[in-house]
Amino acid sequence: MHDFTIRTQRLLIRTFQKEDWPAVYAYTADRSVMHFIPGGRMTEAETQSYVNRQADDAPEAYAVLLPSQERLIGHISFHPWFAPRTYEIGWVFHPDYYGRGYATEAARAMLDYGFETRNVHRVIATCQPENPASWRVMEKLGMTREGHFRQCIEQPGGIWWDEYFYAALKAEWQEITRSAASG
Ligand SMILES: CC(C)(COP(=O)(O)OP(=O)(O)OC[C@H]1O[C@@H](n2cnc3c(N)ncnc32)[C@H](O)[C@@H]1OP(=O)(O)O)[C@@H](O)C(=O)NCCC(=O)NCCS
Repeated sequence: MHDFTIRTQRLLIRTFQKEDWPAVYAYTADRSVMHFIPGGRMTEAETQSYVNRQADDAPEAYAVLLPSQERLIGHISFHPWFAPRTYEIGWVFHPDYYGRGYATEAARAMLDYGFETRNVHRVIATCQPENPASWRVMEKLGMTREGHFRQCIEQPGGIWWDEYFYAALKAEWQEITRSAASG
């Protein structure tokens, strides 16, 4: 998986490099960006260690760059989940770049890659109902909402979060891709 690179119309998705950490810290330090990410906002040291881990042999997330601005603008997580040929996908972007379809474009490319190159059968994604930007991405990708788990994530202060559970199957994805190609 070293030197993994995917180009989309506007984006470059690649393996993290250790020097990427300051660009990642520009958004992992932001409490509002990290509100729904397990562990919440990161310190400099935590970001550095996260990026170092991803730059090693078995990455679980990939950097997303905007080549036109030579900027790292976010990352897509994509890694095996605990079921056969099932992966989990996730996304975190710098707020300066929200709302331009970048997360959807990057995730679509990772799903293509997973289904066509890694022989993945099913890709799942989860988010909180209070995070519409994230479940909109899942819907735009054509993933199906398979579940709404109630009060399944405990937060400090006696608060419980619900969770939406989405998935895409390889055959469905191929159908979506075929329909998109035929206009
Ligand atoms: C989720 C996230 C990656 C989306 O990135 P993005 O590049 O803005 O995503 P896209 O532009 O591809 O799509 C976002 C969609 O959500 C919609 N959206 C954004 N905020 C919304 C809101 N408050 N209510 C309803 N829809 C909203 C956008 O309008 C867009 O839909 P559209 O294309 O139909 O208009 C980004 O918001 C982010 O990094 N959030 C913080 C990290 C996070 O929560 N990650 C997910 C954890 S499960």
